[in-house]
Amino acid sequence: MRDVAENLETGGPGPAELVALEALAMDLALGAGRLVHEERPVDLALGTKSSATDVVTEMDALAEQYLRDRLALERPDDPVYGEEQAPRAGTGTVTWVLDPIDGTVNYLYGSDEYAVSVAAVLGDPDVPGAWVPVAGAVHQPARSRTYHARRGGGARCVAAAGEGTELRVSACTDVGLALLGTGFGYRAEVRREQARALVGLLPRVRDIRRGGSAALDLCSVAAGRLDAYYERGVNAWDIAAGWLVVTEAGGLVTGVGADRPDPAGTLAAPPALHAGLRAAVTESLD
Ligand code: IPD
Repeated sequence: MRDVAENLETGGPGPAELVALEALAMDLALGAGRLVHEERPVDLALGTKSSATDVVTEMDALAEQYLRDRLALERPDDPVYGEEQAPRAGTGTVTWVLDPIDGTVNYLYGSDEYAVSVAAVLGDPDVPGAWVPVAGAVHQPARSRTYHARRGGGARCVAAAGEGTELRVSACTDVGLALLGTGFGYRAEVRREQARALVGLLPRVRDIRRGGSAALDLCSVAAGRLDAYYERGVNAWDIAAGWLVVTEAGGLVTGVGADRPDPAGTLAAPPALHAGLRAAVTESLD
């Protein structure tokens, strides 16, 4: 994997394999989505992770197991990096980055704003800045929508019985007119920093939206329903597929001070808005 990943921007699978990876990501996300949506128990058994509000449901665990079982059959050599289980090592050229339910709190409360995110990436998703997505899908089961992309292949959204539409980021160039999506982590010290950034940003943008799923926020940027997205402290599984969907829809996804997303931030915006927004985020943190 590391040899192929040496040049993350240009190395990796060829066109035919990218098509196959994208199709598999979609199929996996649809299968896991069906499971969490249709087999949701009336009373969800809950556990907690980094804080009392960082919940994990029995369906997160079941859906990740479903994804891992499918990958073990269909891509047995590929490493797997998922939210709910320890990473699986492998010799394959791509690593699968899985979020079985992104927007778990929304899922818990019966909101539609949750998704399954599946991405094939080059590099090591455990090392910030050392990986890039090359194919992926974000499936929102409660709305029967699947956002998907592969490197160089454009980004599309397919609805249940629909044809699918090409995704394109908005034409917004002015930070003051930008509708900005964001999110908040589960730990109090992270939230303090996020609140500090918000105090600086809120007076400078059109408005802020907090949807509750980073993967869907990124897809909304790709579809032009948000102009941009910024969040500090998201994990690789939250953003892997959505990052590629934005990029293939013509957007730019970076860190705040780095070329690639890292724990200091993920910033997604149309190219003509990106520099201004990055400056506004940086100033809001000073
Ligand atoms: C969370 C969501 C949320 C974001 C948090 C993530 P989870 O993921 O993506 O929008 O603000 O930072 O942790 O816990 O629902 O998988």
